[in-house]
Amino acid sequence: MFTTALRPQDLSSLPPDDLVAAIHALKQDLNAVILAHYYQEPAIQDIADYIGDSLGLSRQAAAIDADVIVFAGVHFMAETAKILNPDKLVLLPDLEAGCSLADSCPPAEFAAFKATHPDHLVISYINCTAEIKAMSDIICTSSNAVKIVEQIPAEQPILFAPDQNLGRYVMAQTERDLVLWPGSCIVHETFSERRLIELKVKYPAAEVIAHPECEPTLLRHASYIGSTTALLNYTQTSPQQTFIVATEAGILHQMQKQAPEKQYIPAPPTGPCACNECPFMRLNTLEKLYWAMRDRKPALTLPEEIRQAALKPIQRMLAMSA
Ligand code: 13P
Ligand code: SF4
Repeated sequence: MFTTALRPQDLSSLPPDDLVAAIHALKQDLNAVILAHYYQEPAIQDIADYIGDSLGLSRQAAAIDADVIVFAGVHFMAETAKILNPDKLVLLPDLEAGCSLADSCPPAEFAAFKATHPDHLVISYINCTAEIKAMSDIICTSSNAVKIVEQIPAEQPILFAPDQNLGRYVMAQTERDLVLWPGSCIVHETFSERRLIELKVKYPAAEVIAHPECEPTLLRHASYIGSTTALLNYTQTSPQQTFIVATEAGILHQMQKQAPEKQYIPAPPTGPCACNECPFMRLNTLEKLYWAMRDRKPALTLPEEIRQAALKPIQRMLAMSA
């Protein structure tokens, strides 16, 4: 039996510290580990055992010895953890936490596209469904995509899916011609070049740093491009004091924690919305995390043949980026 049993209706009256204490108690009861992506709300980042980018989270998931993985991220991330850990309980606080990029690559259409390129090696960005992974030869993330493509012989044609912006960035870095699936992320395509230029004029000493999921028109203003972990590390090591950060705004929490004396300005979206916050990532809340652990659901499940087929390209990625 679990030692902590708050009812959902009790939560609204709970001081946040009690909720945090309740989650810690459940973690002990379940022998659970909480993995969180940098795009989670700050309160979730602060309670996580490990925070990272997609590659770091996959590496963690591959090495976990807890019984339960609570994945504070989006569906494809929790799914990857489940692919790597079929016998563990993998919980996602909100099953609706999807990804516009993963959704932009439906399996049936992708299978037809792949069939028209039979001699191509398929390299898929980890932001895709298990079905797409199962049709891929190698998975990559934003932190190892260039390194992985560089390891493929020059004469081998490559089909790259689903993010066309990351694909174009990899093409520029490797000077390789890739066939691209035309997918993209709604968050990284929201940044306004015009408003970014206005910000650069206002803060002439600021350095623009960006995630490779951004469009080329945005990336051309960036003096550093990298995954969320790479961007975070860059702000710590760069002598610059002010950064304009073009990725989901959740990463600013870690930047502020690790170097509070510096200034981080989120790159401006096109409209007056908070669209530089991923609406899928932000579906997770501390309350939902608590409920998921208390009720041991929602849990990730996968057909075994898909899981096995999706595991191979993930293992290839981990071996190629060791
Ligand atoms: P990374 O975690 O590789 O930086 O990718 C960001 C992202 O969009 C995850 O959905
Ligand atoms: Fe998907 Fe974009 Fe959200 Fe990342 S930020 S989870 S790519 S919608």
